[in-house]
Amino acid sequence: MMKTASVLFRTRNTLTSALGACALTWTLCAGLWLAPQVTQAAEVWGRCWTCHKEDGKSFVDPIVMLSGQNKQYLINQLYRFKTGERKERMLYVMNGIAEKLTDEEIEAVATHYSQQDPRKYYVEPEPLTDPEDIRLYELGATHARVCLTCHRDAETRPALRGDFPYISGQNYPALVIQLYAFASGARKNPMMNFIQAPPFSDPDVIEGIAFYFSRQIPPPALNSSQPTPAKTAR
Ligand code: HEC
Ligand code: HEC
Repeated sequence: MMKTASVLFRTRNTLTSALGACALTWTLCAGLWLAPQVTQAAEVWGRCWTCHKEDGKSFVDPIVMLSGQNKQYLINQLYRFKTGERKERMLYVMNGIAEKLTDEEIEAVATHYSQQDPRKYYVEPEPLTDPEDIRLYELGATHARVCLTCHRDAETRPALRGDFPYISGQNYPALVIQLYAFASGARKNPMMNFIQAPPFSDPDVIEGIAFYFSRQIPPPALNSSQPTPAKTAR
């Protein structure tokens, strides 16, 4: 039922090329205002790389993917970690890391991650065959409609507002962790409070919804004209 882990070890080569590109950009653009910004983003994501990679593809699936996430949403979360309003309870690191970020660094790193392509590592999921998987997926699909009001699907650039996150194609364990955090009140947002009441408070429903969204295609890259492939059943 879990999404395959095959994507985990494929991304290392991008760091070298990105550093090369940054060096080149610096040479070409020295004196232009753009150059310091590019350099600053690279300096900042260098501190994120161990967990979020250069392009926001997380090292392990429980860590949430940042690639192409809405910029304002990323900015808000970094301030929430920085002030302690949101606590990261898995690796106990995000709060300490965010505390050290300046306003300029938050802006630069959020811009950087929001511009990455969320579909870079997308692999169409294998069709489901296990009856239990199919049951869970269908359960999730039934309840996912309410989520689409705000989070939207990947047909267009998603989310009702720039400070709402996209969730289509997000890692399954990361979705489960975040949904349980809202359900238990450990992570707070008034718009997600409904999840504390039935039917959403049922673990089966939570895992079904997470499973459903993890199997949807993520949104296209920002400003991409890349067409969304036709939806596949399950
Ligand atoms: C040692 C691992 C680690 C490092 C390094 C790290 N993070 Fe994270 N990050 C996490 C984990 C784990 C979470 C999930 C938090 C949770 O469970 O609430 C997270 C969550 C986030 C989120 C919230 C995403 C969302 O969808 O809500 C943002 C934004 C983020 N990190 C940005 C950064 C940035 C920017 C850096 C570098 C300056 C960084 N992180 C460095 C582990 C890390
Ligand atoms: C009324 C609007 C609204 C609805 C409906 C809604 N959400 Fe959300 N959701 C939000 C907002 C706003 C946030 C960002 C919260 C924050 O800023 O901390 C969020 C955050 C999330 C996150 C965290 C994403 C991340 O990257 O950490 C997940 C997962 C999520 N919602 C899943 C769902 C699911 C599943 C449903 C349906 C059962 C749903 N939401 C319905 C508004 C909504």
